[in-house]
Parts: sequence; C-alpha cells; structure tokens
Amino acid sequence: MLMDISLIKKQADNELALIEKAEDLVLFEKKYLGKQGLIADVFKGLKDLPENERKIAGNQANLLKNELKAVFEQKSKQIYQKRGQTENLVGKIDVSRPVPQKEIGYLHLITQAQRELTDIFKTMGFEVVLGSEIESDWYNFDALNVPKDHPARDMQDTFWLKPESSKMLLRTHTSPMQARYMETHKPPFRIVVPGRVFRNEATDVKHEAQFYQLEGLMVDENISVSSFKAIMAEFLSQYFESKVEVRLRPGYFPFVEPGFEIDAKTKGGGPARRSPKGEGGWLELMGAGMVHPNVFKAAGLQQRTKGKVNFTGFAFGCGIERLAMIKHNIPDLRLFYQNDLRFLKQF
Ligand code: DAH
Repeated sequence: MLMDISLIKKQADNELALIEKAEDLVLFEKKYLGKQGLIADVFKGLKDLPENERKIAGNQANLLKNELKAVFEQKSKQIYQKRGQTENLVGKIDVSRPVPQKEIGYLHLITQAQRELTDIFKTMGFEVVLGSEIESDWYNFDALNVPKDHPARDMQDTFWLKPESSKMLLRTHTSPMQARYMETHKPPFRIVVPGRVFRNEATDVKHEAQFYQLEGLMVDENISVSSFKAIMAEFLSQYFESKVEVRLRPGYFPFVEPGFEIDAKTKGGGPARRSPKGEGGWLELMGAGMVHPNVFKAAGLQQRTKGKVNFTGFAFGCGIERLAMIKHNIPDLRLFYQNDLRFLKQF
C-alpha cells in the first residue's frame, strides 16, 4: 500500500509538471482528487489492511491528498494569472461580479423601418424585389412614359454618370423596377421594392441627395382605385398602429393615369401628430395611381399576354424616412445620415 502511495505521488508530480492548460488541470484534479480518483481508491483499500499498517498508510494517504491539493491550487493560480484572470479553479467564481459590457450593434432606423414596411406587405401577399441603384435612362424615364425632352424629367433632378453618352444615372426613384419586373413576369403579381434613390438636390430638413423609397405595384384582373385604397388603409393602419383614413387627391405622375397624392389622418397618434393642421389634420404621404397603359406597353406586357388577359394595376411610391419621421416624430431628415449616436440609439 505504501508503495502505491509513493507511486501515485511520483506519477502525479510528473503529470503536473507537463500541464499548461486549464482543461488538462481539471482532468488532473478528477483523476487524483475526484470522488472516484486514485486517492479515493487508496482510502477505500485501507479497510483491508492489518490494523498497524492501516494507520501508517492512512496518514500517508492524507498527506498525499493535502499535498496534491496544494500543488493543484498553486498550478491553477499560475494558469489563470497567465490568462490575466483572477479567479482560479478552486476559489469559487463570483457570479455577482459585473461582466464587462460588450457593445452589440443593431439595425439602423432606416433598415428597421424598411423591414417593418416590407413585412406588412408580405402579410398581404406582396413579393419583395430589389433593383439596382445605377439605372439606364430607359428604365428610369422612357419605360415609365417620360420621353426624352419631356418636361416631366425635370421633376427629378438627376445625377448622370459619365460619359454622358452612356445614358446611365443614379436612379431617382424605385419606379424603374415596375418596368423591369413587368418585362419578365405575367400578371397577376404584387410587389414592393425598397431601396435607395438619389436626387441632385440641395439638402434641408426635408431633402437629402439620397433617401429611401418603397415602391408598390399590383396588377391583376379588376384592380381598381378602391382596391388600392383598401390596401393603403390596411398598410398605414398597421405601420402607424392606429386606424388610418386615406384620402386621394389628383396628382400628376407620368407613369399613372389617373394619378393621386395620398393623404392620411388618424384619430390620435400616427400621421396626425405631425400634421401641420394639428390633431386630426390630413398629411400628404405619397404619390400613386393606376398604371398608365404606356407603361404596360413599354414592358411588352400586352404582347406577351396576347391581349388575352384583361388586367389593370395600381402603383405607389413613398419615402421610407418620411414614414419613419412621422411615426417617431423626427423633425429633420438629415438626422438619418449624420451617424450621431445620440440620435441613432433612440431607436
Ligand atoms: N416615383 C415617384 C417619385 O419618386 C413616386 C411615385 C408616384 C411612384 C406615383 C409611383 C406612383 O409608383 O404611381 O416621386
């Protein structure tokens, strides 16, 4: 028995000298000092020894146990000091100690708003599609019934890309995706297109050279202005979390006929909060209308459906920041782009 004890000691010393990692130290503790470890085995074996030997072996086993505990503690301190930590395996971990705070990033308000808006449309069966920020003048204008030299081109001051002969530009709205989508799909369809657009405009509280829009397009048999109004009322009520009434006023956009400006009001909260006319007033929200036959034509929809499908559609386009400004009472569009954490952290 005494032989066993000194062998265990030698073996433990050798192993401990080689240990560098905390994980190995845990295994070491288990092997020697654990409930079913080697020292425990020695104690279990004591009862089979004659009385006189039992006493001596018991003493030796106790000594070994205490010695191993001491070297284990020392080693664990060494390892943890190396790691720059103050706890060791033996001293209990202080769970009440504050954990160093980690800064975790989160989504910018524009992205949050964009996702909220598209999620609402998804529940109404709309597909979310994306276009590209660099567009040709065909898709940005011509295909949307804005011919070259038409005064309507001036409604949107455009960043043209060089060389000018390329006729490429930074899209001034998300509407080009109407034409692109209709070129490759047959009705019925309903889509929304979120994305960044660019205008060569001076910056002020309501204008930035870049901002985000959400475009919508729904084409099917028997789509009427009342279908559009119902979808708008549902969409706005969900986004502003209160019942929203929708009003249409005549408005001019070359790609729709008739075209509307959409106003909205709520009983409390929502758009009414920032209405210039005060509580309960109407607030202008977006442009919309029934898709112009020339837009269907430019996308080749009639030819592809061979006139067999009798379809109509509506389209709308709204500013994403504008909706978020109204919802959250944000006074200045430029705040979205200044990266001021005091602003961003509020959302
Ligand atoms: N594209 C227009 C703009 O940026 C907004 C718009 C108006 C989109 C009417 C539409 C629409 O789809 O039908 O000013």
